[in-house]
Amino acid sequence: MEQKFYWGGATAANQLEGAYNVDGRGMVLTDVTTGGTNKTPRMITYIDKDGNGGAYNKYTGRLPEGARYAVLDGYFYPNHEAVDFYHRYKEDIAMLAEMGFTMFRMSVSWARIYPTGLEEEPNRKGLDFYHRVFQELKKYNIEPLVSIWHFDTPLYIEEHYGNWQNRKVIDLYEKFARTCFEEFKDEVHYWITINEINLSAMLPSIKPNCTREEAQAIYQQLHNQFVAGARAVRLAHQINPENRVGNMIAALVAYPETCHPKDVLYTRHYMEQCIYYSSDVQVFGEYPTFAKRIWDQFGIELDITEQDKIDLKEGVIDMYTFSYYQTSVMSDHDERTEGKSNKRVNNPYLGRNAWNQEIDPLGLRYFLEIVNDRYHLPLMIVENGLGAIDQLEEDHKVHDAYRISYLRDHIKEVMRARESGVDVRAYLSWGPIDLVSASSGEMRKRYGYIYVDRNDDGTGSMERYRKDSFYWYKKVIASDGKELD
Ligand code: BG6
Repeated sequence: MEQKFYWGGATAANQLEGAYNVDGRGMVLTDVTTGGTNKTPRMITYIDKDGNGGAYNKYTGRLPEGARYAVLDGYFYPNHEAVDFYHRYKEDIAMLAEMGFTMFRMSVSWARIYPTGLEEEPNRKGLDFYHRVFQELKKYNIEPLVSIWHFDTPLYIEEHYGNWQNRKVIDLYEKFARTCFEEFKDEVHYWITINEINLSAMLPSIKPNCTREEAQAIYQQLHNQFVAGARAVRLAHQINPENRVGNMIAALVAYPETCHPKDVLYTRHYMEQCIYYSSDVQVFGEYPTFAKRIWDQFGIELDITEQDKIDLKEGVIDMYTFSYYQTSVMSDHDERTEGKSNKRVNNPYLGRNAWNQEIDPLGLRYFLEIVNDRYHLPLMIVENGLGAIDQLEEDHKVHDAYRISYLRDHIKEVMRARESGVDVRAYLSWGPIDLVSASSGEMRKRYGYIYVDRNDDGTGSMERYRKDSFYWYKKVIASDGKELD
């Protein structure tokens, strides 16, 4: 893999593109998901078996028996238009190039290429859109890093197969991945298989009263994703030996609250369950020894075939790619956590953003050093950043000193790690162009260097404006991370 350090930013199709029903694209879950806030959850809308419309909480609810997902009148769906990259990609990429980007992470929308996921032939118009985007990136020598799955399974698969819990989804994903590798063979050489694959591994520990059946389903789904990802890596290598494929791990870094051995051991086990369980499989091609402890803890038994074991071995990743936003503090003392299943307590040493996320630059270096030692693979930071509320001034400026300060502190730690020999190859911040928040569906939770005039209620001109951080990041890139002030 080329010994080069990439600078840039990262996005996802469903949060960026819009054009949800254009040129043959199929539906995905976010198309039936409303906007929310940091206090009110996003809702998923449906028509029940008697023909009545309804909505359930994205995080705690589920589709009622016999209901079908549906777009309903009277609800607002922010991802339908998102920030309209589908029509504005030339202007957007030109602005990324102006900042000096050398890498741009994006995802290909499965439903744009296989509208239901089941078609024999891909949707040509969907493929052509991505060819146009890759050509545009090439014009400015920006290397694409492409995620094959970023939270957007075609809705048809969700409804008829129950998403990843069903092994058939592995084959459908493999077909989609093959199409991408063959079609974009000359344009894309860096790939990511499945975004933040490890998020679900944490669920049985944070979901109150999680049953054995639920835990079983979660870990089986995760296993199916490991196999799907491994098959994609193997295919990518067969189709073009120059392809480099990464996983995508959310760096859920945790610290023990005290030096009490119970807290220390609990935190170690938490990191094993939430991070290393997934990435050990992806790097070493087999489950780690501690997997048995986790399976026993939840009383689960996975369906792992002999062929799965071969696939996992033959599909190990080339680079370790991860997102990093925050850290957490764990206590194994019930009186400290008030018996909460997630066992999290506050970190008194860290500040927080408006969405209550801890800000911890040192945690990024801590994680870089751990995974560098554990895996000996090239590392890429493929998401990091500050979600914040910006004020667009009358003169169309945005003075986002808070964002600059957040990014500066994090990049400093990346540079320190790099200087000390950690093999880090990329820093890509999240949402360089403002886009729809995945968790809350808001526009006002902004990460970008480029302000998009779009509001939570769907109003706004969609015009793009350069924030102060735009000029700052340009300087950072031009100096390869040396000029941070
Ligand atoms: C990551 C996801 O978890 O965090 C992105 O890969 C997401 O899709 C990002 O947008 C930031 O989270 P949020 O909820 O602020 O958009």
